[in-house]
Amino acid sequence: MDLIHQFLNIVAPPFTFFSLLLFLPPYWTFKFFLSIIFAFFPENVAGKVVHITGASSGIGEHLAYEYAKRGARLALSARRDTALREVADRARDCGSPDVIIMRADVSKVDDCRRLVDETVNHFGRLDHLVNNAAISAAMMFEGVTDITNWRPLMDTNFWGSVYTTRFALTHLRNSRGKIVVLSSIDSWMPAPRRSIYNASKAALVSLYETLRVEVGADVGVTIVTPGYIESELTKGKVLLPPEGKMGVDQDMRDVEVSATPVGSVSECAKSIVNGTLRGDRYLTAPAWFRMTYVVKVLCPELLEWGFRILYLTRSSNTPAREAPSKKILDATGIKNVFYPSSIRSPEVKTE
Ligand SMILES: NC(=O)c1ccc[n+]([C@@H]2O[C@H](COP(=O)([O-])OP(=O)(O)OC[C@H]3O[C@@H](n4cnc5c(N)ncnc54)[C@H](OP(=O)(O)O)[C@@H]3O)[C@@H](O)[C@H]2O)c1
Repeated sequence: MDLIHQFLNIVAPPFTFFSLLLFLPPYWTFKFFLSIIFAFFPENVAGKVVHITGASSGIGEHLAYEYAKRGARLALSARRDTALREVADRARDCGSPDVIIMRADVSKVDDCRRLVDETVNHFGRLDHLVNNAAISAAMMFEGVTDITNWRPLMDTNFWGSVYTTRFALTHLRNSRGKIVVLSSIDSWMPAPRRSIYNASKAALVSLYETLRVEVGADVGVTIVTPGYIESELTKGKVLLPPEGKMGVDQDMRDVEVSATPVGSVSECAKSIVNGTLRGDRYLTAPAWFRMTYVVKVLCPELLEWGFRILYLTRSSNTPAREAPSKKILDATGIKNVFYPSSIRSPEVKTE
């Protein structure tokens, strides 16, 4: 057996390389023509039923407006009731013929079952499920005393999508529908202080890539990996150490986002809905953030080194706001150009 593996260790790399040389040109040409056809004939969602989790703010809220503009009927869920009502009213103004809202916490399995059931009971079908709800965190792994305080990250970001997708799948198969999942560029970027958030987003990619194999003949899967986008998350809303309580920390946000341009939420939502209707398998918004993936694949050490030098402080006793990433932001004054005005204040919706 060892001999077989030794043989494959020698033969597999050149075999793969030369096979790809032959295979890639016709494969890419085929994919290119296919993408042109789908760009000219996108799915029409007028009258179709879309459920969006985490629709009370940010990207989820603006996805509701984009689907509404295209005439979709909407089921919107989140935990903040008043905010959901306001989004629903605006979605109706944008053109949705029917919008219902439901208060649900996706980290609870019964809430996820209920949100799918209520959608199907009201509309009689489900065409698109958008798994968008998530929370983030800002803590060094070793800075956490009680690690169980960080379970809500996985419970919301990963299990919330798992539960909802499981209950929705039969309905999505019946309608030959689509799943949209909001992962993140953090699924491949090893940004410090977000280890568990990053892991939750990487887990989503793995889950939905596998589901694509299992159910992809009937249900489309679009995996979205946004870069930095204006929302409550980029206002600095995170679980904060040591207890893991939700709060807004704009200094920490500055450390993390640093001098990176933050994208418009309405443009991001528009490109997600357009990409989904075209049947895109992967989508990064703004698209230039995809280049970070190329860097990660070709020279991962460069990314690790960059994050270490720029985002960490010399000693664990030095506050994070002393990190070079924030100093660069403050010294250049580039924040006024790179951060949309909507994320400069720490106010978030409360109810
Ligand atoms: N903004 C970015 O730069 C960025 C980058 C990469 C990926 N993303 C991803 O994009 C998605 C949307 O985030 P966002 O940036 O728009 O942030 P956001 O404004 O904070 O929106 C998050 C949404 O999730 C909901 N939510 C949080 N916990 C929930 C729970 N337990 N049950 C149900 N709903 C819950 C929130 O509503 P309630 O609090 O009312 O429940 C809110 O509507 C997330 O998956 C995020 O990871 C964002």
